[in-house]
Amino acid sequence: MMSPGANSREPENVPVILLAGASGYVGGRLISLLENQPLLLRCLARNPDKLRPLVQEAAQIVRGDVLDPASLIEAMRGVDTAYYLVHLMSGSKDFEKEDRQAARNFAEAAKRARVRRLIYLGGLGDSSDMRLSPHLRSRHEVGQILRESGVETIEFRASLVIGTGSLSFDLVKSLTDRLPVMLCPRWLTTPTQPIAVDDVLAYLLAAKDLPPGESRIFEIGSPDVTTYGGMIREYARQKGLRRWLISVPVLTPYLSSLWLALVTPAAFEVGRHLIEGLKNPTVVRDRTALEVFSIRPIGIQEAIQKALACVNE
Ligand SMILES: NC(=O)c1ccc[n+]([C@@H]2O[C@H](COP(=O)([O-])OP(=O)(O)OC[C@H]3O[C@@H](n4cnc5c(N)ncnc54)[C@H](OP(=O)(O)O)[C@@H]3O)[C@@H](O)[C@H]2O)c1
Repeated sequence: MMSPGANSREPENVPVILLAGASGYVGGRLISLLENQPLLLRCLARNPDKLRPLVQEAAQIVRGDVLDPASLIEAMRGVDTAYYLVHLMSGSKDFEKEDRQAARNFAEAAKRARVRRLIYLGGLGDSSDMRLSPHLRSRHEVGQILRESGVETIEFRASLVIGTGSLSFDLVKSLTDRLPVMLCPRWLTTPTQPIAVDDVLAYLLAAKDLPPGESRIFEIGSPDVTTYGGMIREYARQKGLRRWLISVPVLTPYLSSLWLALVTPAAFEVGRHLIEGLKNPTVVRDRTALEVFSIRPIGIQEAIQKALACVNE
């Protein structure tokens, strides 16, 4: 079912851009940026009624589920570029299998519809690291499946996205807001290179206008490398909170996820998958994005400042 809003005729000579994941954190913030461009925005949604108030009248909404291949046929019709900002992790125990199947369905539908380009946001991390968490491995695998379809795919790899509403940033916030003393597992010293949500959005938007070419992977991050402990300390400093981080190396990912489930709003399963990924360094090793795009990501301090300003608005 397509809900085209008031404008049921497709404007000619503007590309149709499909946004999968429009109700999510990153996708939801991309909507208004796409709506300001000369294009026709089409959103894929499992629940179109929920999305309708969030988009302009002219935007089309197609009911669809990436686990249901038939529902993707109409969504892909006439599409020039499709954004894949879907994450099945939150609802699923066997997320790796489902994320794989979902990516295959999406890639296959895009190929059949002769979509020109796919744009995907996944996670940083070293693919050759045998200890890469199932969560990060799965994020990389999704990018690979999209590329293997033969449709040109632009994959961005990011670490924690700094912005209010971002699950990983909210985890840092909840922990710091609630616990004056933290017994910290080893993963708090893992190097990471978070990025402000506005910078992620700028990359995603610019990717649709890259000249045609080969599929590419771009690693993106702020100019600062920090640790999860560093994020907590900086967030606490800006909020004027005094926090003590006490290192307890024996805290396993499983135990820390139980602990997180007690103090954070994130669902237990999501917390566990995220925590498993925190043991892996997520830093930018390939800086090509800085050569190809004119985007200059802001530092972590400023990104946290902006996120806090959003909360206080
Ligand atoms: N947030 C971060 O810190 C961060 C960091 C690095 C990379 N990323 C990447 O950015 C991408 C988007 O992340 P996010 O934080 O925006 O995720 P999110 O807020 O959890 O949103 C996930 C989106 O996927 C949709 N979805 C889930 N299952 C679906 C299905 N079966 N069919 C169709 N849509 C489905 C959800 O729609 P419903 O409303 O229907 O559930 C929602 O719109 C992910 O690939 C993630 O790995 C995020």
